[in-house]
Amino acid sequence: MWSGLVEALTKAAAAEDHTPCGGGGVLAEVEERGFAVVDDAWPAAQVAQLRNEIEALHAADCMEPNQVQFATGSGPIRLTKPGIFEADMHHDQRRQACPGFDQLFHTVAELQSCLATRFDVALEPDARPPAAPCTAATEVPATSTNATHSSTTQERGTANKVTKHTESAEGEQSKDPDNKNARDPTAATDDDARSSGEQQEQLQKNQQFSTFTLKLQYNDGTGGCFPYHYDNPAPPNKRLLTVLVYLNANWQQGDGGELMLAPFLGKPQVIPPLENRTVIFRSDRILHRVLKASKPRACFTLWLDGANTNTDDVVFLREKHLTPAFVPELVRSPLQRTLSRAVYEEEYERSLRECFGANPRDTKYAVALHRAHLKQTLANDKLRQFVQHLKTARQW
Ligand SMILES: [Fe+2]
Repeated sequence: MWSGLVEALTKAAAAEDHTPCGGGGVLAEVEERGFAVVDDAWPAAQVAQLRNEIEALHAADCMEPNQVQFATGSGPIRLTKPGIFEADMHHDQRRQACPGFDQLFHTVAELQSCLATRFDVALEPDARPPAAPCTAATEVPATSTNATHSSTTQERGTANKVTKHTESAEGEQSKDPDNKNARDPTAATDDDARSSGEQQEQLQKNQQFSTFTLKLQYNDGTGGCFPYHYDNPAPPNKRLLTVLVYLNANWQQGDGGELMLAPFLGKPQVIPPLENRTVIFRSDRILHRVLKASKPRACFTLWLDGANTNTDDVVFLREKHLTPAFVPELVRSPLQRTLSRAVYEEEYERSLRECFGANPRDTKYAVALHRAHLKQTLANDKLRQFVQHLKTARQW
């Protein structure tokens, strides 16, 4: 079912290297720049089917609001991104209502093995337990009342000590046994709004044993957007590659919902969410956001885990890194994540206000957490000086 994309990647590589998916073209671009765009890789009929499945799921109220919860001293706080709805395909019942996506879900290995010729993609066999019996016909409209996932990113930069970009906060309230999907609530992009009870338990079991995540997304066009973030902000997240596929027939300039990639210190790229457009980027080193959408927008995302993501050498920022000579390496390294929020502090805050602006309480918490991260990072003199240097090196 991934054959259209695999073929497109193989073709692109073939001119320079006859190893399937092993040569130049798109994958070399991902390796070098951190991202690449592939148009028209999917058969038109498949695109139409996948779009219809997302629209039907949304129309049946079987998608869940994009939501994230985190702990505070006064109890858990849940932030909701208005206008954005998702369905995780590890959810057996959701998947059974979407045969096209069900097929994609069960054939992800086609793409994993292709990409593994060039990237350190995790290939372990899917050891998920058997799916629960199908009860799709009695699907209950999604609720998110039991959203439980919680995490925050702590940017603990100090120049004199080994520092770790980690993502676990005191008071964290995650029920995810591996904390596999932990991520930054203020930068959350694809966080889970979970259904409850047995379904949630099954979903978590399925996620735990998988090397990928496949999610459908519907933006209802009422201004929904995402703030700046990395898809893999820190351990224990394992994501290596993000594969994003847009399904928007008749998208026009002005409809919004563009993907904005912001390679560290480089020029931002605004990518219209055109139908049959695939964007592949490094989950751990491409800062990005989604601009406000004024028209409905559908897409799906596959995140592929890496076999060795977030090793110490890309998580711990050391004093030796805080020099201008290291900057060329930093722009290609996930180490940038520790400093990104400080280098782009205004852009982060502006995007948070855009994203949560309809809800003053959510905006307040998101901005407060962002500023707390900043304060922590900039408290160190050497880090603060280095951030100033990086700001002068920015191309925008
Ligand atoms: Fe993202």
